[in-house]
Parts: sequence; structure tokens; C-alpha cells
Amino acid sequence: MSTNEPGDENFARTGSSTPLTVEAVQGVLNGVIDPELKVSITELGMVSELLISDLGVVTVEIALTTAACPLRYQIKREVESKIEGLPGVSEVIVKYGEMTAEQKTNAMERARFQARENAAPTEVSATTRVLAIASGKGGVGKSSVTVNLAYALAARGLKVGVLDADIWGFSIPRMLGINDRLSGTDGKITPNHISVPNRLDPDSPDGGLEVTSMGFLVEDETSALMWRGLILTRALEQFLTDVRWGELDYLLIDMPPGTGDIQMALARMLPQAEMLVVTTPAKAAQKVAARVADMARRSHMKVVGVVENMSAFVAPTGESYELFGQGGGATLAAEIDAPLIMQIPLEPAVSQGSDEGRPAAQSDLGAPAATAFHELARLVATDLLPPLEMAGCTARILEIMADAASPKRATP
Ligand SMILES: Nc1ncnc2c1ncn2[C@@H]1O[C@H](COP(=O)(O)OP(=O)(O)O)[C@@H](O)[C@H]1O
Ligand SMILES: [Mg+2]
Repeated sequence: MSTNEPGDENFARTGSSTPLTVEAVQGVLNGVIDPELKVSITELGMVSELLISDLGVVTVEIALTTAACPLRYQIKREVESKIEGLPGVSEVIVKYGEMTAEQKTNAMERARFQARENAAPTEVSATTRVLAIASGKGGVGKSSVTVNLAYALAARGLKVGVLDADIWGFSIPRMLGINDRLSGTDGKITPNHISVPNRLDPDSPDGGLEVTSMGFLVEDETSALMWRGLILTRALEQFLTDVRWGELDYLLIDMPPGTGDIQMALARMLPQAEMLVVTTPAKAAQKVAARVADMARRSHMKVVGVVENMSAFVAPTGESYELFGQGGGATLAAEIDAPLIMQIPLEPAVSQGSDEGRPAAQSDLGAPAATAFHELARLVATDLLPPLEMAGCTARILEIMADAASPKRATP
């Protein structure tokens, strides 16, 4: 007894329209980057076994360069997290193996090739966490979530990039209260920088925001319309390839509404990108939002979860009012098989803050929306998509490279 379609072994299906296939699992594994070699684990030949059972149990064997690699737990967590994000997965089992001497040499050759060719086509580091903030339609609070989440992450002492990919409907400059033109040197653009005090530990280095937007390139919102001739994906590509982002912990991308082209382009250029879907409590908008999640998964982007924005307004008296309905976030989450990770209340401080260039997350004096944004940042930074740790097996890898270079030492 199984849910398989006739004739298709590795196939399990849930309510979502994206099937669980070997290809889908391999697709998300392309987004797991070995933090030291900065190359995908699939490209390094580290995925040595991949099985999917009828019941959605996925077994993966990861062949490590060295069995004692301290990064193995992080790689395991990454693999689990990416696969668990796929609809229809009931359990993920990660086993470790060790590469043979020949596989190690091959892996190192591929890593060296990548380094030499500088194959990464973007200025975004392979170890930067990339989170695309998307929604089915405009006006649900995508930009507000981007700006406030970025601010709250930076307030934890992290380096955060904000890419306003809403080329024609940009709003990030106004929301952050900056409108400096972008300048550049050596053909690369320097993003606008905002320093954010570290609230978790004032003795540690401050966090910061590196911001780019079409708004910094055009004079006003109407002249942005003249850029309509530009293909949207081309603009995104330029923001990723021509902006000197530096070593960021996170890059948050405020996605434009609409078709899947831009998502596909993003997944192609930044295979590590994951997506946060924003919706309102109104149940009517769920169809479009579900389509966005489906498109993401088709291009092997993990959907981290759903954020419901404009949830119940909480009056100072404590009473709550569900002005935009109720249950939309939970409904969407269930439909796309992703967790509902946060509900951001409707609050005048959010829209006022956006209009005045002062994100609501700047004031966390117990205001419900600011508290929710900081809690969202905490979840992202500690659980959903923690910054990558880089310290690991370098010494051992150098050893392997030395071994590979002198065959006499390679054979024990
Ligand atoms: N939680 C909230 N409470 C109050 N107003 C909000 C909230 N979230 C967003 N807004 C307001 O709603 C409008 C649309 O939000 P915006 O972030 O621009 O949406 P999108 O980027 O999806 O088009 C803006 O005026 C914004 O200030
Ligand atoms: Mg917007």
C-alpha cells in the first residue's frame, strides 16, 4: 500500500502540487554549500547515496573529505533542513561516509577549479544566507517585513544586505530613510551603508545594513517607469553581479510581485537562496501565494515558511481586532506544507515608521509588531537559517591538498 503513482517508484505526493522526487531532493541539495570550499556538496561529489521511500523517508549519505570533519554537523543540519522543506517528506536520515582517496582528489580538483575560474557568477559570497521575501501580490507587507527583519537581524550584530528587487515598485529607500545615489569604483557599485547598534551585546561589534535599490539610481518613482524596457531578470542579475556586497551574513531580497521568471533567475544565480512567503490573514489571497511557493520549489528553492502580516490589531486595552480576517497564514502554511513562523500584528507604528524612514523594529519598547519582528529575526538567526560557521576542517583540507600533490604521502 502506498501513495505512489503507478509505474513511478520514487514518487510520493501530498496536497501540494510539487511531487517528491529524487530530482527535487538533488535540486535542494545543490543549494547546500560546503562553507569552506564554497562549492555545493553535490558538485563536490559528497552525496554518495540518495533514497526515497514510499512514505516520504529520505535517506542521504554524505561522503566527507575526512570523517572527523567538525563541519559535519553543520552540513548534516543543512541537508536535513533543505530536504525537510520539501512537501511530502516525513523523515530525513543523514548518514556519513568517507571519501576514498580518489574521490578526495576529485573533490579538491573541483574546488580548485571553482576557485580559479571564480565560477561564482555573483558578488554574493557562497557563505551568505540568502532569503527572498515574496508574496502572491503587492500590498501585503513584503517590503515592510524585509526592512524590519533586516533591521532586527542587524541589531543582533549581523551584517545584512538588503536588495530591493522590486525594480519598478521600489520602496526600500523611503522605508529606511535613505536616498543617497549609489557610487562605484572599478566598475562595481558600493551599496549604501547603515550602522545598527548591537542590542544583544553592546560590547560586541555593531551590525549593519548594505542597501541597494533602483531608487538610488533613478531620480524619482516616475522615471523608474522609463526602465520598463529593461528585462527584470537582467536588473536582478546586475544587482547581484555589479554590487560589492562584501562578506554578509544575510542577504534579504525584497522580491517583485508577479511571474516566476525572477525566482528562477535567482535560484540559478544563488542556489543557496531560500524563500519566506508573506501573506495577510484574508483567505482570499492564498491561491496566488501558494503559486509563488510552488514556483520556488520548481526551481529547487526551499520555502522556509510563511509570515502572516497585518494579523489582529491589539488595542492598548488588550482587546484584539481581526480587521483583515483570520486564518490566512495557517491555511497557506498547511497548503504549501511549510511552517507558519510568525504573525505580525497590524499596527500604526509599522506604516508610520515606513513613511518616516524609521523601521518599527527600531523601537522594541514592547510594541507588539516590533516584538514580533525581533522574534522573527531570532528564529531565523538561531533556528531556521542560522549564519554559517566557517571554522572547520581547513587544516585537514590543506593536508589533503598536500597529500594529493605528493603521491608518496597519499598512500598509507
Ligand atoms: N503590520 C503592519 N501594520 C500596519 N501597516 C502595515 C503593516 N505592514 C505593512 N503595512 C503598510 O501596508 C502598506 C503595504 O506594505 P508594503 O510593505 O509596502 O507591502 P508590499 O511590499 O507587499 O507591497 C504600507 O503602507 C505599509 O506601511
Ligand atoms: Mg513592496
